[in-house]
Amino acid sequence: MKLPTWLRDKLESLLSDASPAELGRAVEVLSQHYRQHKPTQTAALAPGLRAKAYLATRFAATFAAIRNVLQHVPSEPPPTSVLDLGAGPGTASLAALETFPHISRITLFERDADFRTLGSEFLPHADWRNDDFTQVRLPPHDLVIAAWSLGETPNPLDAALEAWRAALQALVILAPGTPAAFAEVRQIRKRLIEAGAYLAAPCPAAGECPMPAGDWCHFRQRVERSSLHRRAKKGALPYEDEKFSYLVFCRYPVPRPAGRIVRHPQHRPDNIKLTVCLGDRITEIHVTRRSRELWRAARQADWGEAWNTSTLLPPEASVSSPDR
Ligand SMILES: C[S@@+](CC[C@H](N)C(=O)[O-])C[C@H]1O[C@@H](n2cnc3c(N)ncnc32)[C@H](O)[C@@H]1O
Repeated sequence: MKLPTWLRDKLESLLSDASPAELGRAVEVLSQHYRQHKPTQTAALAPGLRAKAYLATRFAATFAAIRNVLQHVPSEPPPTSVLDLGAGPGTASLAALETFPHISRITLFERDADFRTLGSEFLPHADWRNDDFTQVRLPPHDLVIAAWSLGETPNPLDAALEAWRAALQALVILAPGTPAAFAEVRQIRKRLIEAGAYLAAPCPAAGECPMPAGDWCHFRQRVERSSLHRRAKKGALPYEDEKFSYLVFCRYPVPRPAGRIVRHPQHRPDNIKLTVCLGDRITEIHVTRRSRELWRAARQADWGEAWNTSTLLPPEASVSSPDR
C-alpha cells in the first residue's frame, strides 16, 4: 500500500525543515523506545522532534495498517463521524476519511501539543482536544478508533470500555503485533464481548480465543517506503512490513468468515499450507494441486484474509493441528 499522493507531499513538506541527520537520530531513538514497549510521550527527544520522527518513521505504516483494518467496518450505514483516541498526527482519522468519504465530523484526543500542531496541518477543520482521553467522558461518534494508544494508558481495559460506550456504530482497536500487546488485546476482546459488543473481525467466532499460550494473533501490512522514509530509517528495502493485532466491534451483528488465515501461507511446489483460525481452534490446511479451484484459491490466499466454508475443508486437503 502507498500513501495517497497528497498525504505524501504534505508529509514531505512538513519535514522539509528538519535536518536529515537530526531526524535520522531522532527516528533511531523513537524506534528503540518503541522496541522497549515504552509510551510515545516518554521518548527523550527535543520538543517537536518526537512528532516529526513519528511522521518520518511510523505514519505511513500505521496509516496503511489502519486502512487495512477499516475494511472490516460495515459501510452501511456509512459512518459520518469519527473519534480518534491518542491520535498522534491524526493518522486514524485520515485513514477513516480515505475509507469513508461521508465522514464530516472528526474529534481527536491527543495530549502532545507537537502532534496536534502537525496533525492540524493535515486536518485543519477537525476538533483537536488536548485532554487525556482516559480522564473524560468521551463524546459519542459513529466510529471510534484507538490505534496504538490503549497500550499507552494505565488501564487499557477501562479505556476500551469507555471507548466502546462512545461508539455509536463501531469501535476499532489496533495494537503492536507483539506477544505483550496481544495479551492485552485478548483481555479487551473478552471484556468487550462480555459487555455486549459484537466482534466483527478478525475472529470467526466470539468464544474463547483458541490461540495457544506463547503464540499471538497478529497480521501484516506491507507498506511502500518513500525516499524520505528510506533515508529516515536508513532502510535499503523499498517496503516495510507493519505487524499489528486488531479488533473491530460493532453495535449489531455482521457476517463473520468461517475461517481467518493467521499465518503467512507456506508455498511448496506441490502443497500450500494455510494456518486458519476457525474460531474454536486453529488448523493447518494442506492444499494440493488435485483440486484446481482450491489450488487457485490457496495460491491467492494471504495472511489476514478470510478462508470461507466452500473451500474450507476439501476432501483432498489434509488437516492437522499446528505444531507449535
Ligand atoms: C503510538 S502513538 C499512535 C498515534 C496514532 N494513533 C497512530 O496510529 O499513528 C500514541 C499517541 O497517543 C497519545 N496518547 C497516549 N495516551 C494518551 C491519553 N491518555 N490521552 C491523549 N493522548 C494519548 C500519545 O501522545 C501518542 O501521540
